[in-house]
Amino acid sequence: MGMKKRLIKAYMNMMSGIERVDKTWEGYRLARNAVTESQRQAALLQISENRYLESKTYTLDSYFRTDLKGLLLGKDVLELGSNHGGASLAYYEMYGLKSITGLDTTESQVVISNKFFELKGLKTNFNFVQGYGENLPFPSEAFDAIIAFDVFEHVQDLNAVVGECFRVLRPGGLLLTAFPSFFHPTQHHLFSVTTVPFVHYMFSNKDIMEVFYDILDENPEYRDRIGAQRRPLEPWERLCIINGTTLRMYRKIAQQYPWSESRQIYLPIGSNGKLVTEHPVLKGLLAVTWIAARLPSLDEAFNNRISFIHKK
Ligand SMILES: C[S@@+](CC[C@H](N)C(=O)[O-])C[C@H]1O[C@@H](n2cnc3c(N)ncnc32)[C@H](O)[C@@H]1O
Repeated sequence: MGMKKRLIKAYMNMMSGIERVDKTWEGYRLARNAVTESQRQAALLQISENRYLESKTYTLDSYFRTDLKGLLLGKDVLELGSNHGGASLAYYEMYGLKSITGLDTTESQVVISNKFFELKGLKTNFNFVQGYGENLPFPSEAFDAIIAFDVFEHVQDLNAVVGECFRVLRPGGLLLTAFPSFFHPTQHHLFSVTTVPFVHYMFSNKDIMEVFYDILDENPEYRDRIGAQRRPLEPWERLCIINGTTLRMYRKIAQQYPWSESRQIYLPIGSNGKLVTEHPVLKGLLAVTWIAARLPSLDEAFNNRISFIHKK
């Protein structure tokens, strides 16, 4: 192994993710290794349940600094990238939605989401469909609001997705999106191998991915546990399953559509979600991140999410 790769590996191993226990990965591992279909579904339904509970603890309101019930009560809402429906149910209940439609890319996600709602005793007002944000299978002006949480960094063609969101919203409808900038220090999505910050600031994406798979190859049991096999990056990918969108890039994309209003919500790192701290020194540092989150260029690194509410 060359000197450069040794250096990348040593840096990534400073904060290794290899031993990290993650309930979601464990759920996927159980689903992959399930012998029967009902075992597989049970494992995935547990992922729905975990996400449901998590969405109630770390509410979406904190990502928009708004009481979303005031905006969403009695509305027809689309959740783009609804995965296994856990967050969808939390939104439906917490915000008193008229209806929730969830869309994600696989039939399995749709089946599990519908089942999750049924198991919770719901019979109507929900619908999960398979599809892609780039080509939404809905008529124009079908929804009052769209929620896309931690999804825009994963899509293949974000410009097309935002265009589709605009199309399916009713006049006055809202697009609520929150997702990490590519320049967020730790949101490089290499978590299964490393949680070290700034690795993607220092090294090329190609070199990082090679070392990422080298580390997994050295830990075959773990590699199989998380189901990650070596493969080249797709043309749209910057790192593993992320498209590399930055705050600047997103602003340019969003500006292409005639929103009547667009509001960015500043979310200094440490100010919301799981990262909120009660530690007095870290709380003091929040004053620094509060300023940095508003400064050009630093804003890419110091916001927890790229968070926008757009009104059609
Ligand atoms: C990090 S998960 C977030 C799931 C959910 N929004 C939540 O908060 O739990 C990202 C989701 O986006 C979905 N996704 C990726 N590309 C997509 C696309 N082109 N169209 C729709 N969904 C997509 C993935 O399948 C995955 O379920």
